[in-house]
Amino acid sequence: MDDLAAVILAAGRGTRMRSSLPKVLHTVCGKPMVSHVVDAVRAVHSGRLVVVASPESDALRQCAGDSAEFVVQAQPRGTADALLQAENLLRDRAAQVMVLCGDTPLILSSSLSRLLERHQATGATVTLLTSDSVPPEGLGRIVRDGSGRVVDVVEDADAGERESAIAEVNAGVYLFRAEWLWPALRELSPSATGEYYLTNLIKMASGAGLGVESVGSEGALEILGVNTRVQLAQAEQAMRQRILTNWMLAGVTIVDPATTYIEAEVTVGQDTTVYPNTTLAGRTRVGERCALGPGSMIYDSVIGDGCKIIASMLEGAHLDASVEVGPFSHLRPGTVIEEEVHIGNYAEVKNSRVGRGTKMGHFSYVGDADVGHDVNIGAGAITCNFDGVNKNRTVIGDNAFIGSDTMLVAPVRVGARSSTGAGSVVTRDVPPDSLVVGAPARAVRKKRAPEQTE
Ligand code: UD1
Ligand code: MG
Repeated sequence: MDDLAAVILAAGRGTRMRSSLPKVLHTVCGKPMVSHVVDAVRAVHSGRLVVVASPESDALRQCAGDSAEFVVQAQPRGTADALLQAENLLRDRAAQVMVLCGDTPLILSSSLSRLLERHQATGATVTLLTSDSVPPEGLGRIVRDGSGRVVDVVEDADAGERESAIAEVNAGVYLFRAEWLWPALRELSPSATGEYYLTNLIKMASGAGLGVESVGSEGALEILGVNTRVQLAQAEQAMRQRILTNWMLAGVTIVDPATTYIEAEVTVGQDTTVYPNTTLAGRTRVGERCALGPGSMIYDSVIGDGCKIIASMLEGAHLDASVEVGPFSHLRPGTVIEEEVHIGNYAEVKNSRVGRGTKMGHFSYVGDADVGHDVNIGAGAITCNFDGVNKNRTVIGDNAFIGSDTMLVAPVRVGARSSTGAGSVVTRDVPPDSLVVGAPARAVRKKRAPEQTE
């Protein structure tokens, strides 16, 4: 629809969450609830999108994307008052207005499409989305007349015995004919609590003999509105299942969906296998044919094709193809691991580049370092990168051999093809092709060139 504008109501206090964070910023599968709603809208509508925000919600602006416009609702005086804040931006500029709540993260764009189709096809004044597959507690009940037409929405708090028994509820997603909407909003009277209910527009429209249409939502729980942390957990579980199902259908093996957590923004390549107790979070991107877990936690990391990560934690790390990590290792932010590196158990790498084919099998720490290709880092070898005041860099040349338990006291360089003896404490730069031993380490001899060895 060219003449459509969308409005997301997101200025409520969210009192029932008992939180200092605005409700719609609480995350579901790692993404703020309101961002889920924005994405569903953006899948069907590229035009104007207005978010109604509370005065203190700067963080909300980041979640809604650059293309959204913002209006502030000074006081949370109800959903009708919230929508009214968008009037100045939209009156005479959009013929149809789609309204959504920022607290329904599971809403599907396919339902929005069907809502748009029905609204267009019938020429209704209001079309609303309903569901009979969520627990109705706390939601507005849909009241229909003898011929099945929607005549009212009764809020849970105001529902008598008969209305409470109604299973069909209001999703909080509507399409309105704008010409009727804006003046009608101004005619509403406050409810008993002093709030202006958007839902009272339904009775008003139907009472005036105007067309009120409805569309049933598709998925179970799709319209779940999150008002409490109990519902937040329900939304999380439903979204998690949806994400896992999508990845399985896209060719990812998930051995145990019950213990696998993949956040909304993560991508996973085909024929990757995710083993139990594994979390993929943040902006993580995983390549094809990887084996992740069991027991891995991977945050904001990029993982190339064919990597194997067993029982390890990655944060802000970048791995090229065919890297092996774990069990029980930790790659921290700023880590870049090139192809075919092997990082075994109890290793930690931070803010370092590790070159192709390097091996770091056991109990090592590499921090603030540039490690060349085909280096061997012996068991227990570490970079002493912190002198108590500054972090200093260590540079290890290609094909170097760092003996077990070596302490590389940064800033320090170990030249290409050099070796350090077991237990050496390297405080001075080691030239290429040398062997140093001891504490402090001193050169023993130039290494013989390979052609001289027997
Ligand atoms: C609302 C509906 C209910 C529906 C349910 C669906 C009303 C009166 N009731 O109830 O029929 O079943 O959603 O989830 O509309 N908001 C504002 N400003 C306000 C109040 C709310 O922006 O002053 C925003 C909230 O941030 C939220 C949305 O509007 O995103 C809905 O508000 P909420 O208080 O959650 O309404 P419900 O009680 O869930
Ligand atoms: Mg709600």
